[in-house]
Amino acid sequence: ATNRTFTMLKPDAVEKGHIGAILEKISASGFRIVAMKLTQMTTKDAQTFYAIHNERPFFVDLVEYMTRGPIVAAILEKDNAVEDFRTLIGATNPADAADGTIRKLFADSISENAVHGSDSGENAAIESAFHFSGREMF
Ligand code: CMP
Repeated sequence: ATNRTFTMLKPDAVEKGHIGAILEKISASGFRIVAMKLTQMTTKDAQTFYAIHNERPFFVDLVEYMTRGPIVAAILEKDNAVEDFRTLIGATNPADAADGTIRKLFADSISENAVHGSDSGENAAIESAFHFSGREMF
């Protein structure tokens, strides 16, 4: 069924000038952009967004990374969007990501991995509502 996922092009991808190339790949893979903006998360935003990871050893670095510059936040729609988008982005660690995936092409490390994709429809809805108001979704 058609559903939605939430993505962020992370600060490393924006810094390296990869916004256009990544959006091109997303569009060419059949995703419709439902919402999109350039924004920067505050420390509190990132701590809340990644609360599930707050006991992990990499949490402080993750918050520092995700707040150091602007991100592109977007909501994407497609048949089977959550699962297909995770296939398109590839494994969390770019060293393990399949050829042709966004992380294989654009990510440098497991911590700075270029792009976020929701891991479930439920989390996609929560993450979308965190970043966008109803008036910003089309
Ligand atoms: P993502 O899976 O989108 O969301 C959690 C993020 O934490 C992950 O991307 C990486 O940016 C980061 N992360 C996950 N695992 C590690 C790890 N082992 N070391 C450092 N950062 C990590």
